[in-house]
Amino acid sequence: MSEKKDAKVTTATFARMKREGDKITMLTAYDYTMARILDEAGVDSILVGDSASNVVAGWPTTLPITIDQMIYHGAAVARAVRRALVVVDMPFGSYQSGVRDGVAAAARMMKETLADALKIEGGQEMIPVMSAIVNAGVPVVGHLGLTPQSVNKFGGYGLRAKDEAEAAKLRADAKALEAAGCFAIVLEKIPASLAAMVAGEVAVPIIGIGAGAEVDGQVLVGQDMLGMGGMFRPKFVRQYLNLHDEIADAVRRYSADVKGGTFPGPDEQY
Ligand code: KIV
Repeated sequence: MSEKKDAKVTTATFARMKREGDKITMLTAYDYTMARILDEAGVDSILVGDSASNVVAGWPTTLPITIDQMIYHGAAVARAVRRALVVVDMPFGSYQSGVRDGVAAAARMMKETLADALKIEGGQEMIPVMSAIVNAGVPVVGHLGLTPQSVNKFGGYGLRAKDEAEAAKLRADAKALEAAGCFAIVLEKIPASLAAMVAGEVAVPIIGIGAGAEVDGQVLVGQDMLGMGGMFRPKFVRQYLNLHDEIADAVRRYSADVKGGTFPGPDEQY
């Protein structure tokens, strides 16, 4: 490893990690407190995902979240982070209408969040806007496979690229994204064998979520791996804590203490 352990992670670090087979760790965060914990724990990258729409706002899809809301979350995370590479999702509707709108939204998001990079969903059909954003000096992460902003087109959140035609398109899309200047690509919920093939076919890091182990890094929604989602546990999530139950237990104990008159105690007041 050429950089210091605590040196800021950059797009160059990502490229170096792919070359050296050093796996990239990425988790989502949407607020200052969580981002600071993840950064201090040494995660390589923090994704301010538009999954904030589901996880923070409780919407059934990622479609409702706005540019202003993504900027609010992105800026809070960027303020907390010293080392990790901060990537913010461009929300649905901010880049699909064309190059001009996409570049304006990207510039605004970078200025107002001070994040390091943006993520954009979509394949060859998004190349004009992606390359214009890259040419404007903004590092872009691509996102292929299950792209949640297209959930209504797909008709659900099922496994993508199961058939040969969709798998072939995904491989061509990954090469096109690399050629357009994306410095990394997220592959979501596709067969592990296909993801491994793509990781071998492009020079940029492939970050998988539900895409098997033979890729260059992994991303999970922070709340999922911490077990905050209650019964929601997709097959590809490894749950490292059960914070849902731990928080509920703490809240029950707090309520019991307040109602029983044992909180605050003599040392907890002025
Ligand atoms: O919005 C998000 O959290 C994402 C990850 C699931 C990759 O895009």
